[in-house]
Amino acid sequence: MIRAVITGSGSALPKDCVTNADLEARVDTSDEWIVERTGIRQRYIAGEGETTSTLATEAARKALDDAGVDASEIGLIILATATPDHTFPATATQVQQALGCRGGVAFDVAAVCSGFLYALGTAESLLRTGMAKKALVIGAETFSRILDWEDRTTCVLFGDGAGAVVLEAQDVAEDGPGILATKLHADGEHKDLLYVDGGPSTTGEVGKLRMKGREVFRHAVVNLADVLGEVLADASVTAADIDWVVPHQANARILDATARKLGLPAEKVVVTVDQHANTSAASVPLAFDVARKDGRIKPGDLVMFEAMGGGFTWGASLARI
Ligand code: ACO
Repeated sequence: MIRAVITGSGSALPKDCVTNADLEARVDTSDEWIVERTGIRQRYIAGEGETTSTLATEAARKALDDAGVDASEIGLIILATATPDHTFPATATQVQQALGCRGGVAFDVAAVCSGFLYALGTAESLLRTGMAKKALVIGAETFSRILDWEDRTTCVLFGDGAGAVVLEAQDVAEDGPGILATKLHADGEHKDLLYVDGGPSTTGEVGKLRMKGREVFRHAVVNLADVLGEVLADASVTAADIDWVVPHQANARILDATARKLGLPAEKVVVTVDQHANTSAASVPLAFDVARKDGRIKPGDLVMFEAMGGGFTWGASLARI
């Protein structure tokens, strides 16, 4: 059977690491409050010359090296971001140009923190139709540029970064590697709980992120537990079969609460929110790359990806590595 198999991963972070103590000098907050409420200890913030496309390109190059794939072999690039370099063209096309890929398909998807799940699901479907044989799926963000640095309830929560995977269509055995099941959802009902108060067709300004964190938290735990259950049922596996969960890294307490709801031990959850904060669409591939490169995630492991973000959008995907 033809499946989309993850054959490489890569990630990139800006040079500047900003600790909670650094933020204390800038905002009315404390390391104690941030760690206790979120688990975040530091984040990376893009400086001059660092943009969503430069971070995405670096992550993509590392993923290609890791997979042993040449950029010229890539027929499809899907880049998930809510912070593109420009309103248009799509940031994916700039990454395509920087990598030296020609002639394939390249586009962005906007599903905020669920963007990587949306991009992965879309790429997997397109690979299985035969539209392309090898794809790059990237999550990349520079959220620091849409934060209101006067708003302590949001500015301490986010960071910048990028993660990428190479996906290849391969003919594999039933128990072989590849993406086994994906479920994606959207519900525009709660837009006002998490949004950016600008845009090209409204104010003409880029705008700043606005969030009612407590309410987002409540929806996140319920929606994530539901979609994880759907994916497990679809793939006919139980939570006990999963080797690793790679969740969207929004808040350590959401990760704990979701794992508890599913009866998953905390040791099976990859946590990088302490190091990177919430990097939106970049967080899942960034955490996956960290856990793959440090040897936790190994070939043959069953890995669950999950995310929830603005929209709301949410989703989960189960893959055998
Ligand atoms: N430093 C110090 N105090 C703060 C800070 C801060 N940075 N921010 C808020 N406070 C204060 C508030 O003013 C409030 O004070 P008050 O009681 O005197 O009014 C108090 O802390 C509690 O504020 P709450 O907002 O009720 O705190 P809560 O326990 O809900 O934690 C948080 C806030 C961390 C944002 C939490 O609600 C959360 O993580 N929500 C989920 C958000 C999230 O994950 N969003 C992303 C998902 S989608 C995506 O990734 C885009």
